[in-house]
Amino acid sequence: MNIITSNIRKEVLSYLHLSTTQPLLLSGDASFILKELPDQSIDMAMTSPPYWQKRQYSNGGIGLEPDYTDYIQNLCHIIQELYRILKPTGSFWLNIGDSYHHKRLLGIPWRIVFEMTDKQGWILRNSVIWHKIKGSPDNSPDKLRNIHEAVFHFVKQPNGYYYNIDAIRTKPREAKVVNGAIVSATGVSGVRYKRQIELATDLTEQEKSNAINALNTMLMKVKKGEVSDFRMIIRGRQRTTHSDAENLSGRAKELKEKGFYFLCYHPNGTKPSDVWEIIPEDTQNRKEHYAAYPADLCKIPILATCPPNGTVIDPFCGTGTTLVVAQSFHRKSIGIDISQDYLQQSIERLDTNYEGQQYVLFDKYVRERVECDYE
Ligand SMILES: C[S@@+](CC[C@H](N)C(=O)[O-])C[C@H]1O[C@@H](n2cnc3c(N)ncnc32)[C@H](O)[C@@H]1O
Repeated sequence: MNIITSNIRKEVLSYLHLSTTQPLLLSGDASFILKELPDQSIDMAMTSPPYWQKRQYSNGGIGLEPDYTDYIQNLCHIIQELYRILKPTGSFWLNIGDSYHHKRLLGIPWRIVFEMTDKQGWILRNSVIWHKIKGSPDNSPDKLRNIHEAVFHFVKQPNGYYYNIDAIRTKPREAKVVNGAIVSATGVSGVRYKRQIELATDLTEQEKSNAINALNTMLMKVKKGEVSDFRMIIRGRQRTTHSDAENLSGRAKELKEKGFYFLCYHPNGTKPSDVWEIIPEDTQNRKEHYAAYPADLCKIPILATCPPNGTVIDPFCGTGTTLVVAQSFHRKSIGIDISQDYLQQSIERLDTNYEGQQYVLFDKYVRERVECDYE
């Protein structure tokens, strides 16, 4: 392992030009190290900063401030640098949990969001609920168990940011042929709809004939794979999920004018929702570090918002989960952490069987930060 202690800007620039997916690890305080990175050079950032007053890490860093407002300021100072180094097409995914203080739930995640959107220019695109399924034990007799955290997706511009929705769709199950008839993956064969159309008292004969023709066309589309699945809404037969007011809903209008409409499933599959059920990382096997997030949390963000051959950065990389996932998807990645112990754990988790690999451990900024603290 090489330890390089000078000219980090040069090291990062040369790394960005390499075609390797070997991550670059930088040891030190993110608030100093990020300043060395060039403007608009990174495709995507994903991180989980230390939560306020939740944990003691092995080398200090943010999260230990006595007042949560100072914590928010320190974190936002680092996030401002992320804004600068991200490309205009870039994305930033922030996983952050809340904290209680004197029985008050502080709403820290949203305070950070408002600081970012109102003062730094970020655009919030999604607020994902990470449903952890298994929570930590909570014996307080006067409140509910906390079992979720937030994952926020931010961009720098409202349109034209990189987003590959097809990369994250769940693959549709295929239609099959049963007794000569096409049946969709969820069992829609059209037989039930045909019967409902024939028996519909709210449809004219002409509307019935149009509905049957449209249904046959839709079944052909399923057969050809142009639509993966569908539901048919027939006037007077199905409960509609929209308002019946025609000025509010195009579908209500369609139902009134034609007597039916279709809800089609995208042929490439369904896109994920903003509630993710992911069991927290099992920490039993890790040394000392108790705050690694699960690899599954990084998969959708990296696949959707980091282009192939792009670069992901995690300014609080800890044991390197973001980098492990980036590497597995053939993206480049840069990880920063104030603790060399955690970076060492990252190295142990990463695929290090590359020739000419180089980890840059840059400790100059840790020393500078310590000196600042004593001023
Ligand atoms: C919640 S952990 C990140 C865990 C990581 N996502 C993983 O899966 O292992 C937060 C990390 O931030 C680091 N940290 C705290 N303050 C820092 C700072 N100012 N600069 C860089 N790293 C810092 C801590 O050492 C810790 O490893």
